[in-house]
Amino acid sequence: MSEITPILLLIHFLTPFLFLHANSQFHDQEQAVLIRLKQLWQNPLSLEQWTPSNSSHCTWPGVVCTDNYITQLILDNKNISGTIPPFLSDLKNLTFLNFSNNNIIGKFPVAVHNLSMLEILDLSQNHIVGTIPDDIDCLARLSYLNLYANNFSGNIPAAIGLLPELRTLRLQDNQFNGTFPPEIGKLSKLEELSMAHNGFSPSRLHSSFTQLKKLKMLWISRANLIGEIPQMIGEMVALEHLDLSSNKLTGTIPGSLFMLMNLRVLYLHKNKLSGEIPRVVEALNLTSVDLSENNLTGTIPVDLGKLDKLSGLSLFFNQLSGEIPESIGRLPALKDFKLFSNNLSGSIPPDLGRYSALEGFQVASNRLTGKLPEYLCHGGNLRGVVAFDNKLGGELPKSLENCSSLLVVRISNNAFFGNIPVGLWTALNLQQLMISDNLFTGELPNEVSTSLSRLEISNNKFSGSISIEGNSWRNLVVFKASNNQFTGTIPLELTALPNLTVLLLDKNQLTGALPPNIISWKSLNILNLSQNQLSGQIPEKFGFLPDLVKLDLSDNQFSGQIPPQLGSLRLIYLNLSSNHLVGKILAEYENAAYSSSLLNNPGICASRPSLYLKVCISRPQKSSKTSTQPLALILSASIIAFLLALLFAFIIFRGHWKRNRRSGSEWKFINFHSLNFTESNILSGLTESNLIGSGGSGKVYRVAANGSVLAVKKIWNNSPVDKKIEKQFLAEVEILSKIRHLNIVKLLCFLDNDNSKLLVYEYLVNHSLDQWLHTARRSNKYAQTSRINEKIDVYSFGVVLLELTTGKAANYGDTGLAEWALRHMQEGKTIVDALDEEIKEPCYVDEKSNVFQLGVNCTRRDPSARPHMKEVLQILLGRSHPLAYGVNIGSEHDSTSLLKNSKRERQSESHSTLASDS
Ligand SMILES: *[C@@H]1O[C@H](CO)[C@@H](O)[C@H](O)[C@H]1NC(C)=O
Ligand SMILES: *[C@@H]1O[C@H](CO)[C@@H](O)[C@H](O)[C@H]1NC(C)=O
Ligand SMILES: *[C@@H]1O[C@H](CO)[C@@H](O)[C@H](O)[C@H]1NC(C)=O
Ligand SMILES: *[C@@H]1O[C@H](CO)[C@@H](O)[C@H](O)[C@H]1NC(C)=O
Ligand SMILES: *[C@@H]1O[C@H](CO)[C@@H](O)[C@H](O)[C@H]1NC(C)=O
Ligand SMILES: *[C@@H]1O[C@H](CO)[C@@H](O)[C@H](O)[C@H]1NC(C)=O
Ligand SMILES: *[C@@H]1O[C@H](CO)[C@@H](O)[C@H](O)[C@H]1NC(C)=O
Repeated sequence: MSEITPILLLIHFLTPFLFLHANSQFHDQEQAVLIRLKQLWQNPLSLEQWTPSNSSHCTWPGVVCTDNYITQLILDNKNISGTIPPFLSDLKNLTFLNFSNNNIIGKFPVAVHNLSMLEILDLSQNHIVGTIPDDIDCLARLSYLNLYANNFSGNIPAAIGLLPELRTLRLQDNQFNGTFPPEIGKLSKLEELSMAHNGFSPSRLHSSFTQLKKLKMLWISRANLIGEIPQMIGEMVALEHLDLSSNKLTGTIPGSLFMLMNLRVLYLHKNKLSGEIPRVVEALNLTSVDLSENNLTGTIPVDLGKLDKLSGLSLFFNQLSGEIPESIGRLPALKDFKLFSNNLSGSIPPDLGRYSALEGFQVASNRLTGKLPEYLCHGGNLRGVVAFDNKLGGELPKSLENCSSLLVVRISNNAFFGNIPVGLWTALNLQQLMISDNLFTGELPNEVSTSLSRLEISNNKFSGSISIEGNSWRNLVVFKASNNQFTGTIPLELTALPNLTVLLLDKNQLTGALPPNIISWKSLNILNLSQNQLSGQIPEKFGFLPDLVKLDLSDNQFSGQIPPQLGSLRLIYLNLSSNHLVGKILAEYENAAYSSSLLNNPGICASRPSLYLKVCISRPQKSSKTSTQPLALILSASIIAFLLALLFAFIIFRGHWKRNRRSGSEWKFINFHSLNFTESNILSGLTESNLIGSGGSGKVYRVAANGSVLAVKKIWNNSPVDKKIEKQFLAEVEILSKIRHLNIVKLLCFLDNDNSKLLVYEYLVNHSLDQWLHTARRSNKYAQTSRINEKIDVYSFGVVLLELTTGKAANYGDTGLAEWALRHMQEGKTIVDALDEEIKEPCYVDEKSNVFQLGVNCTRRDPSARPHMKEVLQILLGRSHPLAYGVNIGSEHDSTSLLKNSKRERQSESHSTLASDS
């Protein structure tokens, strides 16, 4: 023994060194991999501390070692650009690899295949393309796979079903355009499955998925699902969040979702634990169900009322019918309740809100009857009551009084009656009270919630005077109170609201004069006071409202002259008809655009003959001093002369017209402005050399006429049957001649004969969209005078948005792009169908759809329904949803709760869902 002792001792001493040596070699190798990675990615700032001089790489940021082997590489949000190289697989001990939220490109990294120890792989939020490899199952230990928000395409391989440890599978927001395999149903440990927002080929939800007994979250919204929801879906006993919204699912909501699961568990328990009957509720863990925006029919299963933990229920935009199960009203956790746009009938569960802290309540656009539930705000968290377009009635529940959490009440178009509960007007945070088209009575309160920005009470039976006290009304933006029974005068205080953009008080019984001094109204766009008994003069201050585009004072008893200041307004609509106005029409209005603006004012005259107004008779200076008899004589003489002239003109004109019919060469010439060129100036300029463009309906010429440069659009009357062109032409003339606006090309005149029609515009040199976008800022172009908040600008902007998203020209279709887009939406077609082929790929679908939807909202026929440019900006910046403004096509939404978030926000949402689970 003593002989071999030294050798043994030697070995004994050497072994650790040998081992250490091997280990440190390995160690150096691993460090070299990191250094190569850093170099490959061009030394991003975030990896600055990865330097060999800095002790062990196990202390470097993002690196975690176990026994000196790198086991975790956590490089999320590191501003890494480039690919993941094959040599990464030299880090053989990696179990945790996170490259989330970088700029990684290329295909699914080859290196990853060889990392057989991997348990967690997160490549989310990068730009990886191609397919998931068919041999993904070589990562047999994988429990977490997150490929969310990349550009993966193709099929999801069946091999994914061979990852027995998988608990989380996130594949949402990619470009998968093939299928997903039934084998996913084999992932017996799976707790989260997210495949939402992909363009799968139309696929059914595999019934094998119902075998996912551990699944807590199933999120496959907007993924082209078709067919019915598997009847046995209730077998997913652990399900907590179910979101299959925005697909094309048909059929009914399986009762099993709420019932069989429960029964099955009860059954098992009974067998196993004889005698002990478990509390049924323990098995019902569903907390949110979103099946909205499908094509589901049938009724809402009664057993839904058993889901003790259900906090969110979204079934909107389906075709569900029947009654809302009364038991839903007793759910103890219910917060958010969205059933709008179905065919539901019967009454709303009367206990709704009584046993849970309800936050959102949206049942608009159904056929519901009865009253609003008494306890909606019982829990003190109610944010909205959205129930418009139903057949609800009765008085509003008292409980809505002093509901300080309440933001919006939208119950228009029902049959509610009685007074508005006093405390509702002043509910602390109330922003929108929209109760038009009901049978409400009573008076307006002196004070309202200081948060109130939108008050719509048109078409009710409100009465009394409009009295405004204090400054609680100061934030009002829209006030619509048409067609009520208001009396008294328009108070000065009403003109002090600085944010008011729309004020409609037409069809009431208001009397007296308008306040001569308007205190603010800086933002007013639309003022409608027609069909009242208002009198006195039109205040000249009206001429100084900077943003007024629509003014209707018709059907009142206004008298005196039209204040000349009104001439400076740039109105798209003016109606002063049926009043007692006198005097000469303002020069600015003396054209066809305002032909009907002043009808039925017997004292109004024009300086030139027109169809609608008589010609002013200039009185001789001294006439007022002479007796009335000579004046009458002069008058009747002039009238006779005028009539004679008229007769003469008629005879000549008739002859003229007859000749025209025969020869077809005479031109009818109608001008909208005073012109310094003649008909022949234009006609002589229509030569080939002046041709600057040519389109479907005609040609465009650039014509220099007596110092003016004109754009002349020539439209042929090809054949007598071409009625369509005729219609288009007349529509264009009508619209253009009415619009006077800075940013719209001025239509100067038109000419018409049997062969063709000519539209003559001002010629704008090189004025193209490009120029507006790229050089407008440099010039002090109008910049100071143009006002972007005018609704007509919003319209034009909307058309541009539609052009951008659809790739179609502004004049697309029979009626133009705006009208086409609106019809597209009204017909219930998807927005994606409307998008330009070039941008149809399924990335940023939300964003593209939002821009399209915004275009539709901006081009509404009713200017008051268009958003403001400020709001447009908010939407484009992603801070708001297009449906938050204006009237929606199918129905209106509670803006605060229907906002769909952008990708990344959604991700954080699902993160937090998960976080709260663990
Ligand atoms: C070495 O790394 C540590 C931890 O990563 C860091 O705090 C330190 O600043 C680094 N030192 C140098 C010289 O880079
Ligand atoms: C991210 O990396 C790019 C170069 O790839 C660099 O220009 C940019 O400044 C980096 N950003 C940050 C926040 O480090
Ligand atoms: C790392 O891998 C080596 C060889 O593959 C193995 O011997 C060692 O035990 C592993 N270490 C850890 C901490 O996993
Ligand atoms: C799926 O998308 C990929 C990548 O865009 C494309 O190459 C492939 O042709 C598409 N497949 C189908 C079936 O559309
Ligand atoms: C329901 O949730 C509870 C508590 O989280 C859990 O113990 C129970 O196992 C869940 N039920 C099912 C069927 O997963
Ligand atoms: C919904 O289903 C009905 C028939 O049940 C069908 O007529 C309609 O076209 C479907 N709508 C959509 C958008 O799929
Ligand atoms: C009213 O206008 C002021 C100033 O422009 C603004 O600060 C305020 O937020 C506006 N209120 C509403 C309700 O829009």
